[in-house]
Amino acid sequence: MSKRLAILISGRGSNMESILAAAKRESWDAEFCLVLSNKPDAAGLRTASAAGIPTRVLDHREYRGRRPEYDADLASILQAERVDLVILAGFMRILGANFTTPFARRALNIHPSLLPLYPGLNTHQRALDAGDSRAGCTIHFVDETLDGGEIVAQAEVPILAGDDASALAARVLVEEHKLYPRVVRDWILGKLTPTSNLTASARAQEAQS
Ligand code: GRF
Repeated sequence: MSKRLAILISGRGSNMESILAAAKRESWDAEFCLVLSNKPDAAGLRTASAAGIPTRVLDHREYRGRRPEYDADLASILQAERVDLVILAGFMRILGANFTTPFARRALNIHPSLLPLYPGLNTHQRALDAGDSRAGCTIHFVDETLDGGEIVAQAEVPILAGDDASALAARVLVEEHKLYPRVVRDWILGKLTPTSNLTASARAQEAQS
């Protein structure tokens, strides 16, 4: 049966676009039933509307001091749409148990670092400051930790002499746009085998844990 997908964004939505483009190109057996943003002015909302996908805003500012209620309302909206998989694509909110429990292993996030390195913000600058030779992106299942859920896929890029954070971010983003559609497609096909998508370093880490 066709899978029902929702995408959560907060901003420009370029990862969302790469997923929508791949779905069209590859004729995925999937329906994008909702694109939801926590920010009313997210540019990606216009892109989604133009693609004929229903959009919705759930503004976190209306939930000050009531974070668990935000998570519960988000989960209710997605459950009402009978969503099979939630795709967080630049959604800049940490979600708690009211969301992560009903959507355990049914919500993916992309993060622009080689997790477990550099959860949180400013990942590219932190990789540069540490003198790393490699950077990349990670797709993981969402749990209530910050960028800490089970890793399902990674892609690496080199850090080059003279890189600043924006040059590195651009190089990583190219890989994000390839990796995320691949992972979502594998999930739809029931072929998502986390370990086959891991880099050597992530595999070593898994083996130790
Ligand atoms: C991406 O770099 C993603 O990894 C991070 O936020 C950025 C979102 O970009 N979580 P976009 O909105 O998909 O263009």
